Amino acid sequence: MAAGIDDIAIYIPRLYIDAADFAKARGLDPVKLQKGLGVAQMAIVDANQDPACLAANACLKIMQKNKLSPEDIGRLYVSTESAFDESKAMNSYVIGMLEQVYGQGAFEHCGGVETKFACVSGSYALYDNTNWIRAGEAEGKHALVVVSDIAKYDMGSSGEMTQGAGAVVMLLNDKPRLLAFDPKVTATSIKDEYDFYRPFGKETPIVHGQYSNLLYMIQVRKALESYKKKVISSGLIKIEPGETILDHMDYINMHLPYSNMGKKALAYLVRHEWRQLPRWKRILQEIGIEEPRPKDPRGTIESVLADEEFMAKDHEFTKLFTKTHEYQEVYESKLSSSLIASSMIGNLYTASLYLGFRSSLEYEFQKGVDLEGKRIGFGSYGSGSSAMVFSGVIQPEFKEIVRDMNLEAEIGDRKKLTWEEYEELHENKLLPEESMVHSKKEFVLVNVKTDTESRGERR
Ligand code: CAA
Repeated sequence: MAAGIDDIAIYIPRLYIDAADFAKARGLDPVKLQKGLGVAQMAIVDANQDPACLAANACLKIMQKNKLSPEDIGRLYVSTESAFDESKAMNSYVIGMLEQVYGQGAFEHCGGVETKFACVSGSYALYDNTNWIRAGEAEGKHALVVVSDIAKYDMGSSGEMTQGAGAVVMLLNDKPRLLAFDPKVTATSIKDEYDFYRPFGKETPIVHGQYSNLLYMIQVRKALESYKKKVISSGLIKIEPGETILDHMDYINMHLPYSNMGKKALAYLVRHEWRQLPRWKRILQEIGIEEPRPKDPRGTIESVLADEEFMAKDHEFTKLFTKTHEYQEVYESKLSSSLIASSMIGNLYTASLYLGFRSSLEYEFQKGVDLEGKRIGFGSYGSGSSAMVFSGVIQPEFKEIVRDMNLEAEIGDRKKLTWEEYEELHENKLLPEESMVHSKKEFVLVNVKTDTESRGERR
C-alpha cells in the first residue's frame, strides 16, 4: 500500500530580525551571517504566540484548504523541542484550539502524542504514521504530523545568530498526491550525546556548537550507510560500478539549523561517497592539496576538534572541494533550492527539514522542472543524538499541490523588528495583549497565568 505526504502547509510568525541589523548590534561582520551561515532573516514569535499556536494555525490551514472535517483525521501528532509542559502533550492544546472552530468533541477519536528527539522527532512521527497507514489501521482516514518550534538561544551566544520559528504540517494518507515514501529502507543511527540539550525549566538550550555540527555530519553519514544497505538488500535501487547512492536521489533535503549547514553536510556526504570512486583521483588533482587526516583518525569528536592543524587544513580542503565543477553540479541540482526558505526564515528545529522540502518543490517547479517520479532523499538530524535517512518518490498528481505554492505570499507582510523590540521579545517582557501584530483570524495566546497552575488560554 502506498503511503506518504498528500499535502503540506506552513505557518510562519510575521515578525523578523534582519541579519544585517543583528550583526550590527552584536558587533559581528554581517558577511558571517549572510555568506558564512546563509542567514538573511530570522522569524521571531510575537508576545501572543507559542509553539502550540503555530502548530494549530498550520493545522487549520491544511484542513480548510483540503475541506477536511475532524472525522477525517485519525491521528494528530505534534513533534517539537519547544515543549512547555512535562506531561500534557502539545497535540491536546492544538486539538483544543481546533475544536473552537469545529466544535467541542469534534476530534474525540483522533489519537496522537507529542514526540521529542530534538530536531529529528518529526521524522520519527512521519515514519510511525506512515506505518499506521500501511498497516491498514487508518481505514481511509488521514494523519496530520505537525512539526512546530521556536529556536531561541541565549542572548550573545553563538547560537543566537541561528534562531527562527514556525510550523510545518504534513497531511498523510494512502493516496498521497505529493510524495510516497519508499518502504523498508528508512535507516537510523543513534548515540547518547550532549551536543545540544535543554534541561527541565530552562528556556534556551545548552549548545556545543562545533561539536554539534560535526556530530550531525557523522550521524547522518552512518544512517546513510545503513540506508544504502537497505536499498540494495530490498532491491529498491541497484548501484552500478562508478555510481554512489546519492546518484539515485534526484534531490537531497538536509536538516537546516541554518541554511549553510545543509551545504556543509552535503559536502561531507559527497566526499565520503566519492572517495571510493575512480573520479576521486581526478578531483584531488583539481583541488591541488592532499585530503587531510586527523592525527588520531579513531579518536573522539573532541580530539578531532582539538586537532587545530587538521581542522584548519580540512576547512581549506572543503572550501576547495565545494568549488570543484563536479561538486557544484551536485549542489546546484540536488540541494540549492531547498535552502532558499531557510535563509528567509531561519531555524525551525523539527520543521526545518520539511520547510526545506517545501522550498525545493516550489522553486524547482518554478524553474519548469517536471518533478513526477523524482526521488527525494532526506537527511534528518536531532541532537542528543539521532539521524534518520529515508526517501520517497514524487507522485503524478504533485502539480495539484505544488502549483499554488508561493512562499512569500504565504509568509505575508512581515514586520521588521528594531533591536529594542527584539530584545523585549527575547527577554519575555511583553504580555500577550502587548503583541506587535494584531491578528484576527489566527489562534493566539490571550493570557498566560503565572501561578503554579499555569495553563494559558489560546483562542
Ligand atoms: N565572512 C564570511 N564568512 C565567515 C566570516 C566572515 N567574516 N566569519 C565566519 N565565517 C564563516 C566561517 O568560515 C564558517 O563557515 P564554514 O562553516 O564553511 O566553516 C561560518 O561562517 C560560521 O562561522 P563559525 O563556524 O566561526 O561560527 P561560530 O562558531 O561562531 O557559530 C555555530 C556557528 C557553531 C553553528 C553556532 O551558530 C551555533 O552554536 N549554533 C547552534 C547549534 C547548531 O545549529 N548546530 C548545528 C548542528 S546541531 C542541530 O542541527 C540541531 C539543531 O537544530 C540546533
